[in-house]
Amino acid sequence: MDHFEYRNGILHAEDVPLTRIAAEVGTPVYVYSRATLTRHARVFRDALAGLDPLICYAVKANGNQAVLKLLAAEGYGADVVSAGEMKRALAAGIPAGKIVFSGVAKTDAEIRAALEAGILQFNVESDAELDAIEQVAAAMGVTARVSLRINPDVDAGTHAKITTGKADNKFGIAWDRAIDVYAHARRLPHVEATGIDLHIGSQLSKLEPFEAAFTRTVELIRRLKAEGHPIRHLDLGGGLGIPYSDETPPAPQAYAEMVHRVTGNLDLKLIFEPGRVIVGNAGLMLSEVVYVKETASKRFLILDAGMNDLMRPALYDAYHEVVAVNEPAAGAPRDPVEIVGPVCESTDVFARERPMPPVARGDLVAFRSAGAYGATMSNTYNARELVPEVLVDGDRYAVIRPRQTVDELIAMDRVPDWI
Ligand code: LLP
Repeated sequence: MDHFEYRNGILHAEDVPLTRIAAEVGTPVYVYSRATLTRHARVFRDALAGLDPLICYAVKANGNQAVLKLLAAEGYGADVVSAGEMKRALAAGIPAGKIVFSGVAKTDAEIRAALEAGILQFNVESDAELDAIEQVAAAMGVTARVSLRINPDVDAGTHAKITTGKADNKFGIAWDRAIDVYAHARRLPHVEATGIDLHIGSQLSKLEPFEAAFTRTVELIRRLKAEGHPIRHLDLGGGLGIPYSDETPPAPQAYAEMVHRVTGNLDLKLIFEPGRVIVGNAGLMLSEVVYVKETASKRFLILDAGMNDLMRPALYDAYHEVVAVNEPAAGAPRDPVEIVGPVCESTDVFARERPMPPVARGDLVAFRSAGAYGATMSNTYNARELVPEVLVDGDRYAVIRPRQTVDELIAMDRVPDWI
């Protein structure tokens, strides 16, 4: 459920007509609904409440300070994959003790910064990283808490470009090496390996791959415990999908019941790293139709938003529902169009053969379910200003990231005095 709906023929975010935001802030622009975001955060949290978990929101999905502050207020921690994301989380008031640090390429400087901040744990993805953490921690005279991210070699059944839990992915420590790497960790005096972690992919629409991966991990935990490893944390990652089109991903409640069934009597602190399921449907991207172009075989809606503003379709063939902001008349025809952006690349296509009601130059369209991996993945290709973000709360809204100006973009460059 979300708070984007037509009222008086105009799509609203809560009580604010999107036409007003477009007129006052311009397009393209991301628009988030506070009520939707908070609702999703609470539904997920409440579904898991019986498990007494720590929920570490995956900052990569949407790292805006306003979003992070709202989630901090709901008791969320953070899953970060860079010192930059860690800084964002800390700046928004998420306590260091609720931050886990994932990612395959943590640098010594990042490890140091995380140890200085006092984060809960590193999710370690290789032997080499374990050794680097040992060295940095030793130099600082501290002990680092780590979980080892084990790759369960399970097919998440999701898009190949967002799967992470297969043996041939770069993520995690191979399943059959896990016992050896824990034994190695035990010999390191400045590392305390008290947890195990996994994350098999994103936008999963079925419970079975989760269950298979979690079940394998529980088997491993039993073996590790039998060998005397003090495993106290189990980090189950993120990955729960959302409905973009006609998929019906499991509800958080069903996910929670499955987790309980699989991990029930192990006496572990559970950690979750949801991203998309929290913010995905709490946002949309608003764009204006610049031209409608007819060719011999096709009709193009050319928008002022491009693949630099919303990369998912170009990168993963991702589907986003595109709706007209002015509600189409009942029974209006739906004719197939190509929805494209202004960027000079053939892959700057949002949708092909998409049935759309009649829209004309100057009309507004909204890309639904764009709250996750939308603004965070945007960039400035073709010298396009970084897209702004707006947060709606009832009948008010605030710009939570202003549109960058091209002058600011140019000012980032430095011309050496020998040119
Ligand atoms: N934890 C780890 C270690 C991750 O790598 C990810 C996402 C998450 C948690 C959060 O996963 P979620 O709950 O959001 O599925 N840009 C792609 C998605 C990439 C996901 C990367 N890792 C997209 O737009 O679909």
